[in-house]
Amino acid sequence: MSPVRNRIEVMHGVNLDQLGRRDPEIYGGLTLDELELQIGADARALGLVPRFFRTNHEGEFVERLHRLEGLADGVILNPGAWTHYSYAIRDALELARLPAVEVHLSDIEHREPWRRHSVLSELCIARVAGQGPAGYRRALETLREELAS
Ligand code: DQA
Repeated sequence: MSPVRNRIEVMHGVNLDQLGRRDPEIYGGLTLDELELQIGADARALGLVPRFFRTNHEGEFVERLHRLEGLADGVILNPGAWTHYSYAIRDALELARLPAVEVHLSDIEHREPWRRHSVLSELCIARVAGQGPAGYRRALETLREELAS
């Protein structure tokens, strides 16, 4: 473990690479590249060191979680639709044994009923949803507090 706990893995899952093409009323107008730039700037302003990962492949997401031990101190994850049903990602997140914050750009509580359920939330210290890109800043702040304690 590094003496200063400030390394944050920011993980985006399925279909998030299509931001910019997805309904801007729901997801906003930023592309994932633009969103990551903003998260990176926010993280560094908070004294955190971000690292980014994105994939449309569930097994790659799982394997990234497997490899985080010793490489990250906290995780921000927006797994897209996997949030709602992937017990494989849930089990891998449990194995990672890191403080995690679940982020959703959209307000999943007030959309289709199937989006209300997250199989990950009981493993996360917080969930931020419906705040668009600003939700990631909230998540970074939450992890910073957690890692300082
Ligand atoms: C999402 C919400 C999910 O329900 C959806 O499947 C996504 C994006 C969000 O960021 O709002 O792909 O995670």
